[in-house]
Amino acid sequence: MVNTVLVTGGAGYIGSHACVELLQSGYQVVVVDNLANSNCESLKRVQDITGKPLAFYQVDIRDRNALAEVFAKEPITSVIHFAGLKAVGESCEQPLMYYHNNVYGTLVLIQVMADADVKQLVFSSSATVYGASEHVQYTEDLPIGAINPYGRTKAMIEDILRDLSATDGLKPTESPWKIALLRYFNPIGAHESGKIGEDPNGIPNNLMPYVAQVAIGKLAQLSVFGNDYPTPDGTGIRDYIHVVDLVKGHIKAIQALQGEKFAAGGCKAYNLGTGRGCSVLEIIETFERATGRKVNYKFAPRRTGDLAECFANPELALKELNWKAEKSLDDMIADTWLWQVKNPQGYN
Ligand SMILES: NC(=O)c1ccc[n+]([C@@H]2O[C@H](COP(=O)([O-])OP(=O)(O)OC[C@H]3O[C@@H](n4cnc5c(N)ncnc54)[C@H](O)[C@@H]3O)[C@@H](O)[C@H]2O)c1
Repeated sequence: MVNTVLVTGGAGYIGSHACVELLQSGYQVVVVDNLANSNCESLKRVQDITGKPLAFYQVDIRDRNALAEVFAKEPITSVIHFAGLKAVGESCEQPLMYYHNNVYGTLVLIQVMADADVKQLVFSSSATVYGASEHVQYTEDLPIGAINPYGRTKAMIEDILRDLSATDGLKPTESPWKIALLRYFNPIGAHESGKIGEDPNGIPNNLMPYVAQVAIGKLAQLSVFGNDYPTPDGTGIRDYIHVVDLVKGHIKAIQALQGEKFAAGGCKAYNLGTGRGCSVLEIIETFERATGRKVNYKFAPRRTGDLAECFANPELALKELNWKAEKSLDDMIADTWLWQVKNPQGYN
Protein backbone atom coordinates (compact mmCIF):
# COMPACT_ATOMS: atom_id res chain seq x y z
CA MET A 1 0.00 0.00 0.00
CA VAL A 2 1.29 3.48 -0.85
CA ASN A 3 1.47 5.63 2.24
CA THR A 4 -0.12 9.04 1.78
CA VAL A 5 0.87 11.55 4.44
CA LEU A 6 -1.07 14.74 5.11
CA VAL A 7 1.39 17.45 6.14
CA THR A 8 -0.36 20.36 7.87
CA GLY A 9 1.77 23.52 7.73
CA GLY A 10 3.78 21.87 4.94
CA ALA A 11 4.69 25.17 3.25
CA GLY A 12 6.52 26.37 6.38
CA TYR A 13 10.14 26.03 7.40
CA ILE A 14 10.16 22.55 8.94
CA GLY A 15 7.14 21.31 6.95
CA SER A 16 8.77 22.00 3.56
CA HIS A 17 11.89 20.04 4.59
CA ALA A 18 9.62 17.21 5.77
CA CYS A 19 7.91 17.16 2.36
CA VAL A 20 11.30 16.68 0.65
CA GLU A 21 12.23 13.84 2.97
CA LEU A 22 8.82 12.16 2.63
CA LEU A 23 8.83 12.33 -1.18
CA GLN A 24 12.40 11.05 -1.31
CA SER A 25 11.42 8.16 0.98
CA GLY A 26 8.59 7.09 -1.37
CA TYR A 27 5.56 8.61 0.39
CA GLN A 28 2.78 10.50 -1.39
CA VAL A 29 2.39 13.97 0.12
CA VAL A 30 -0.69 16.13 0.61
CA VAL A 31 -0.09 19.59 2.07
CA VAL A 32 -2.66 21.73 3.86
CA ASP A 33 -1.51 25.25 4.75
CA ASN A 34 -3.28 28.61 5.03
CA LEU A 35 0.00 30.41 4.12
CA ALA A 36 -0.32 32.58 7.26
CA ASN A 37 3.44 32.38 7.76
CA SER A 38 4.74 30.93 4.50
CA ASN A 39 4.89 31.20 0.76
CA CYS A 40 3.79 28.45 -1.62
CA GLU A 41 7.03 29.03 -3.58
CA SER A 42 8.56 26.67 -0.97
CA LEU A 43 6.35 23.85 -2.28
CA LYS A 44 7.38 24.54 -5.91
CA ARG A 45 10.98 24.20 -4.77
CA VAL A 46 10.22 20.96 -2.88
CA GLN A 47 8.97 19.51 -6.17
CA ASP A 48 11.99 20.92 -7.96
CA ILE A 49 14.42 19.28 -5.49
CA THR A 50 12.69 15.90 -5.52
CA GLY A 51 11.38 15.81 -9.11
CA LYS A 52 8.11 14.52 -7.62
CA PRO A 53 4.65 16.11 -7.39
CA LEU A 54 2.66 16.80 -4.25
CA ALA A 55 -0.94 17.93 -3.69
CA PHE A 56 -1.47 21.35 -2.09
CA TYR A 57 -4.66 22.74 -0.56
CA GLN A 58 -4.73 26.30 0.74
CA VAL A 59 -6.93 25.52 3.70
CA ASP A 60 -7.04 26.67 7.32
CA ILE A 61 -7.12 23.65 9.62
CA ARG A 62 -9.88 25.36 11.62
CA ASP A 63 -12.18 25.11 8.58
CA ARG A 64 -13.72 21.73 9.32
CA ASN A 65 -15.66 21.35 6.05
CA ALA A 66 -12.69 22.24 3.87
CA LEU A 67 -10.44 19.87 5.82
CA ALA A 68 -13.00 17.06 5.61
CA GLU A 69 -13.10 17.55 1.83
CA VAL A 70 -9.34 17.01 1.66
CA PHE A 71 -9.73 13.76 3.60
CA ALA A 72 -12.56 12.71 1.27
CA LYS A 73 -10.46 13.37 -1.85
CA GLU A 74 -7.07 12.01 -0.80
CA PRO A 75 -6.20 8.48 0.42
CA ILE A 76 -4.54 9.81 3.60
CA THR A 77 -3.06 7.17 5.92
CA SER A 78 -1.24 9.37 8.46
CA VAL A 79 -0.81 13.00 9.43
CA ILE A 80 2.20 15.08 10.41
CA HIS A 81 0.84 18.16 12.14
CA PHE A 82 3.14 21.19 11.85
CA ALA A 83 0.48 23.89 11.36
CA GLY A 84 0.66 26.39 14.17
CA LEU A 85 1.79 29.83 15.25
CA LYS A 86 5.17 29.77 16.96
CA ALA A 87 6.39 33.19 18.16
CA VAL A 88 6.68 33.26 21.96
CA GLY A 89 6.58 37.09 22.25
CA GLU A 90 3.53 37.38 19.99
CA SER A 91 1.80 34.62 22.00
CA CYS A 92 2.18 36.77 25.16
CA GLU A 93 0.62 39.75 23.35
CA GLN A 94 -2.16 37.79 21.62
CA PRO A 95 -2.77 34.62 23.65
CA LEU A 96 -6.31 34.06 22.34
CA MET A 97 -5.07 34.02 18.77
CA TYR A 98 -2.54 31.33 19.77
CA TYR A 99 -5.06 29.19 21.66
CA HIS A 100 -7.55 29.52 18.82
CA ASN A 101 -5.11 28.70 16.08
CA ASN A 102 -3.03 26.01 17.76
CA VAL A 103 -5.39 24.33 20.24
CA TYR A 104 -8.74 24.76 18.45
CA GLY A 105 -7.07 24.02 15.11
CA THR A 106 -5.77 20.73 16.48
CA LEU A 107 -9.19 19.85 17.90
CA VAL A 108 -10.75 20.30 14.47
CA LEU A 109 -7.98 18.28 12.83
CA ILE A 110 -8.33 15.29 15.17
CA GLN A 111 -12.12 15.34 14.88
CA VAL A 112 -11.84 15.22 11.08
CA MET A 113 -9.21 12.47 11.38
CA ALA A 114 -11.51 10.44 13.66
CA ASP A 115 -14.42 10.89 11.20
CA ALA A 116 -12.18 9.62 8.38
CA ASP A 117 -10.75 6.82 10.59
CA VAL A 118 -7.19 8.10 10.07
CA LYS A 119 -5.55 7.64 13.44
CA GLN A 120 -1.80 7.92 12.96
CA LEU A 121 -0.50 11.30 14.02
CA VAL A 122 2.93 12.85 14.46
CA PHE A 123 2.68 16.12 16.36
CA SER A 124 5.20 19.01 16.40
CA SER A 125 5.69 19.64 20.07
CA SER A 126 8.53 21.59 21.58
CA ALA A 127 11.12 21.54 24.35
CA THR A 128 9.33 24.66 25.64
CA VAL A 129 6.79 22.32 27.26
CA TYR A 130 9.39 21.54 29.94
CA GLY A 131 9.58 25.14 31.12
CA ALA A 132 12.09 25.99 33.85
CA SER A 133 13.75 22.97 35.43
CA GLU A 134 16.75 22.42 37.68
CA HIS A 135 17.91 19.81 35.18
CA VAL A 136 19.85 21.00 32.16
CA GLN A 137 19.49 17.78 30.18
CA TYR A 138 15.84 17.03 29.54
CA THR A 139 14.39 13.53 29.56
CA GLU A 140 10.81 12.92 28.45
CA ASP A 141 9.65 12.04 31.98
CA LEU A 142 10.39 15.51 33.40
CA PRO A 143 7.26 17.40 34.48
CA ILE A 144 5.57 19.70 31.97
CA GLY A 145 5.64 23.36 33.00
CA ALA A 146 5.41 25.66 30.00
CA ILE A 147 5.94 29.30 30.97
CA ASN A 148 4.31 31.23 28.11
CA PRO A 149 1.10 30.95 26.05
CA TYR A 150 2.87 29.43 23.03
CA GLY A 151 4.42 26.69 25.20
CA ARG A 152 1.10 26.15 26.94
CA THR A 153 -0.65 25.56 23.59
CA LYS A 154 1.86 22.74 22.97
CA ALA A 155 1.42 21.34 26.50
CA MET A 156 -2.39 21.49 26.18
CA ILE A 157 -2.33 19.74 22.81
CA GLU A 158 -0.10 17.02 24.26
CA ASP A 159 -2.65 16.53 27.09
CA ILE A 160 -5.54 16.40 24.62
CA LEU A 161 -3.75 13.79 22.52
CA ARG A 162 -2.89 11.67 25.58
CA ASP A 163 -6.54 11.83 26.71
CA LEU A 164 -7.67 10.86 23.22
CA SER A 165 -5.32 7.89 23.14
CA ALA A 166 -6.58 6.78 26.57
CA THR A 167 -10.11 6.35 25.16
CA ASP A 168 -8.89 3.44 23.02
CA GLY A 169 -9.34 1.02 25.92
CA LEU A 170 -13.00 2.10 26.16
CA LYS A 171 -13.67 1.38 22.48
CA PRO A 172 -11.86 -1.87 21.70
CA THR A 173 -13.82 -2.35 18.47
CA GLU A 174 -12.44 0.85 16.90
CA SER A 175 -8.95 1.21 15.44
CA PRO A 176 -6.58 2.67 18.07
CA TRP A 177 -4.89 6.08 17.96
CA LYS A 178 -1.15 5.94 17.29
CA ILE A 179 0.46 9.22 18.25
CA ALA A 180 4.05 10.46 18.49
CA LEU A 181 4.67 13.78 20.27
CA LEU A 182 7.99 15.06 18.98
CA ARG A 183 9.59 17.65 21.25
CA TYR A 184 11.95 19.70 19.12
CA PHE A 185 14.93 21.49 20.56
CA ASN A 186 16.30 24.31 18.33
CA PRO A 187 15.96 23.52 14.62
CA ILE A 188 18.34 25.50 12.40
CA GLY A 189 19.98 25.04 8.99
CA ALA A 190 18.44 24.50 5.58
CA HIS A 191 18.32 21.95 2.78
CA GLU A 192 21.81 21.38 1.33
CA SER A 193 20.57 22.52 -2.12
CA GLY A 194 20.08 26.06 -0.76
CA LYS A 195 16.60 26.04 -2.35
CA ILE A 196 14.49 25.86 0.82
CA GLY A 197 15.18 27.32 4.25
CA GLU A 198 13.80 29.49 7.03
CA ASP A 199 12.16 32.65 5.69
CA PRO A 200 10.93 34.61 8.70
CA ASN A 201 8.48 37.47 8.23
CA GLY A 202 10.12 40.75 9.28
CA ILE A 203 12.71 40.67 12.06
CA PRO A 204 13.62 37.06 12.93
CA ASN A 205 12.73 35.77 16.41
CA ASN A 206 15.34 33.02 16.36
CA LEU A 207 19.09 33.28 16.70
CA MET A 208 20.31 31.62 13.50
CA PRO A 209 18.32 33.59 10.88
CA TYR A 210 19.21 36.74 12.86
CA VAL A 211 22.94 35.91 12.72
CA ALA A 212 22.70 35.16 8.98
CA GLN A 213 20.89 38.45 8.27
CA VAL A 214 23.48 40.45 10.24
CA ALA A 215 26.29 38.68 8.37
CA ILE A 216 24.76 39.52 4.99
CA GLY A 217 24.16 43.15 6.02
CA LYS A 218 20.35 43.04 6.12
CA LEU A 219 20.33 43.72 9.87
CA ALA A 220 22.84 45.98 11.63
CA GLN A 221 23.61 44.20 14.87
CA LEU A 222 22.79 41.11 16.91
CA SER A 223 21.93 41.48 20.60
CA VAL A 224 23.25 38.62 22.74
CA PHE A 225 20.91 38.50 25.72
CA GLY A 226 22.99 37.77 28.82
CA ASN A 227 26.75 37.22 29.18
CA ASP A 228 26.65 36.51 32.90
CA TYR A 229 25.00 33.09 32.95
CA PRO A 230 26.76 30.32 34.88
CA THR A 231 28.05 28.77 31.61
CA PRO A 232 31.69 28.55 30.42
CA ASP A 233 31.51 31.75 28.32
CA GLY A 234 28.58 33.38 30.14
CA THR A 235 26.11 33.09 27.22
CA GLY A 236 23.07 30.82 27.03
CA ILE A 237 23.47 27.20 25.93
CA ARG A 238 20.95 25.42 23.71
CA ASP A 239 20.70 22.23 21.69
CA TYR A 240 20.71 23.19 17.99
CA ILE A 241 19.60 20.52 15.54
CA HIS A 242 19.82 20.49 11.73
CA VAL A 243 16.31 20.75 10.25
CA VAL A 244 17.03 17.82 7.90
CA ASP A 245 17.98 15.58 10.85
CA LEU A 246 14.82 16.77 12.60
CA VAL A 247 12.50 15.87 9.72
CA LYS A 248 14.16 12.46 9.36
CA GLY A 249 12.95 11.86 12.93
CA HIS A 250 9.38 12.32 11.62
CA ILE A 251 9.81 9.59 9.00
CA LYS A 252 11.17 7.29 11.71
CA ALA A 253 8.18 8.18 13.88
CA ILE A 254 5.71 7.29 11.11
CA GLN A 255 7.53 3.98 10.61
CA ALA A 256 7.36 3.30 14.36
CA LEU A 257 3.62 4.11 14.48
CA GLN A 258 3.09 1.52 11.74
CA GLY A 259 5.26 -1.08 13.49
CA GLU A 260 5.13 -3.56 16.35
CA LYS A 261 5.66 -1.05 19.16
CA PHE A 262 2.43 0.83 18.42
CA ALA A 263 0.42 -2.19 17.22
CA ALA A 264 -2.09 -1.75 20.05
CA GLY A 265 -1.99 2.06 19.82
CA GLY A 266 -0.50 4.60 22.21
CA CYS A 267 0.69 8.17 22.60
CA LYS A 268 4.34 8.76 23.37
CA ALA A 269 6.69 11.76 23.60
CA TYR A 270 10.20 11.80 22.14
CA ASN A 271 12.90 14.46 22.34
CA LEU A 272 14.45 15.40 19.01
CA GLY A 273 17.78 17.05 19.76
CA THR A 274 21.46 16.25 19.37
CA GLY A 275 22.14 15.90 23.11
CA ARG A 276 24.89 18.53 22.82
CA GLY A 277 24.67 22.09 24.09
CA CYS A 278 26.21 25.00 22.25
CA SER A 279 26.55 28.62 23.46
CA VAL A 280 25.55 31.76 21.58
CA LEU A 281 29.19 32.82 21.34
CA GLU A 282 30.15 29.40 19.92
CA ILE A 283 27.47 29.85 17.24
CA ILE A 284 28.78 33.30 16.34
CA GLU A 285 32.43 32.16 16.25
CA THR A 286 31.65 29.05 14.19
CA PHE A 287 29.55 31.17 11.83
CA GLU A 288 32.37 33.70 11.35
CA ARG A 289 34.91 30.92 10.72
CA ALA A 290 32.69 29.05 8.26
CA THR A 291 31.58 32.07 6.24
CA GLY A 292 34.48 34.49 6.57
CA ARG A 293 31.90 37.17 7.51
CA LYS A 294 31.93 39.28 10.66
CA VAL A 295 28.85 39.10 12.86
CA ASN A 296 28.41 42.45 14.53
CA TYR A 297 27.01 41.84 18.02
CA LYS A 298 26.61 43.49 21.40
CA PHE A 299 25.76 42.12 24.82
CA ALA A 300 22.34 43.04 26.22
CA PRO A 301 20.67 42.19 29.55
CA ARG A 302 19.17 38.73 30.07
CA ARG A 303 15.56 38.31 28.89
CA THR A 304 12.96 37.25 31.45
CA GLY A 305 12.13 33.58 31.18
CA ASP A 306 15.34 32.61 29.35
CA LEU A 307 17.22 29.66 30.84
CA ALA A 308 21.00 29.49 31.21
CA GLU A 309 21.30 26.06 29.67
CA CYS A 310 19.16 23.25 28.30
CA PHE A 311 19.68 20.38 25.94
CA ALA A 312 18.04 17.10 25.03
CA ASN A 313 18.60 13.61 26.21
CA PRO A 314 17.78 11.97 22.85
CA GLU A 315 18.27 8.33 23.97
CA LEU A 316 14.60 7.36 23.87
CA ALA A 317 14.31 8.37 20.21
CA LEU A 318 17.40 6.28 19.44
CA LYS A 319 16.05 3.27 21.31
CA GLU A 320 12.44 3.34 20.13
CA LEU A 321 12.51 5.22 16.81
CA ASN A 322 15.99 4.19 15.72
CA TRP A 323 16.79 7.86 15.09
CA LYS A 324 19.68 10.09 15.96
CA ALA A 325 20.95 13.43 14.69
CA GLU A 326 23.91 13.05 12.32
CA LYS A 327 24.81 16.56 11.16
CA SER A 328 27.38 18.84 12.81
CA LEU A 329 27.17 22.50 13.78
CA ASP A 330 29.40 23.26 10.77
CA ASP A 331 26.80 21.59 8.49
CA MET A 332 24.02 23.61 10.09
CA ILE A 333 25.89 26.86 9.55
CA ALA A 334 27.12 26.08 6.02
CA ASP A 335 23.56 25.21 4.92
CA THR A 336 22.05 28.28 6.60
CA TRP A 337 24.59 30.47 4.83
CA LEU A 338 24.07 28.88 1.41
CA TRP A 339 20.30 29.45 1.75
CA GLN A 340 20.87 33.07 2.88
CA VAL A 341 23.30 33.88 0.05
CA LYS A 342 21.14 32.27 -2.64
CA ASN A 343 17.94 33.86 -1.29
CA PRO A 344 18.79 37.20 0.32
CA GLN A 345 15.08 38.16 0.19
CA GLY A 346 13.83 34.72 1.18
CA TYR A 347 11.18 33.37 -1.21
CA ASN A 348 10.24 36.86 -2.48
N1 LIG B 1 11.05 26.38 14.38
C1 LIG B 1 11.19 26.10 15.66
O1 LIG B 1 12.15 26.58 16.29
C2 LIG B 1 10.25 25.16 16.36
C3 LIG B 1 10.61 24.60 17.59
C4 LIG B 1 9.70 23.75 18.23
C5 LIG B 1 8.46 23.47 17.66
N2 LIG B 1 8.13 24.03 16.48
C6 LIG B 1 6.82 23.75 15.90
O2 LIG B 1 6.99 23.15 14.63
C7 LIG B 1 5.91 23.53 13.76
C8 LIG B 1 6.48 24.08 12.46
O3 LIG B 1 7.31 25.18 12.77
P1 LIG B 1 8.04 26.03 11.64
O4 LIG B 1 9.28 26.58 12.25
O5 LIG B 1 8.11 25.28 10.39
O6 LIG B 1 6.99 27.23 11.52
P2 LIG B 1 6.41 27.93 10.20
O7 LIG B 1 5.65 29.12 10.66
O8 LIG B 1 7.47 28.12 9.19
O9 LIG B 1 5.39 26.80 9.69
C9 LIG B 1 4.11 26.65 10.21
C10 LIG B 1 3.16 26.59 9.02
O10 LIG B 1 1.82 26.40 9.50
C11 LIG B 1 0.96 27.24 8.74
N3 LIG B 1 -0.23 27.48 9.57
C12 LIG B 1 -0.30 28.16 10.75
N4 LIG B 1 -1.56 28.15 11.21
C13 LIG B 1 -2.31 27.44 10.31
C14 LIG B 1 -3.67 27.10 10.22
N5 LIG B 1 -4.56 27.48 11.15
N6 LIG B 1 -4.10 26.36 9.17
C15 LIG B 1 -3.23 25.98 8.20
N7 LIG B 1 -1.92 26.29 8.23
C16 LIG B 1 -1.47 27.01 9.27
C17 LIG B 1 1.79 28.48 8.43
O11 LIG B 1 1.31 29.19 7.30
C18 LIG B 1 3.16 27.87 8.18
O12 LIG B 1 3.35 27.53 6.83
C19 LIG B 1 5.07 24.55 14.53
O13 LIG B 1 3.97 23.87 15.10
C20 LIG B 1 6.01 25.01 15.62
O14 LIG B 1 5.32 25.43 16.78
C21 LIG B 1 8.99 24.86 15.80
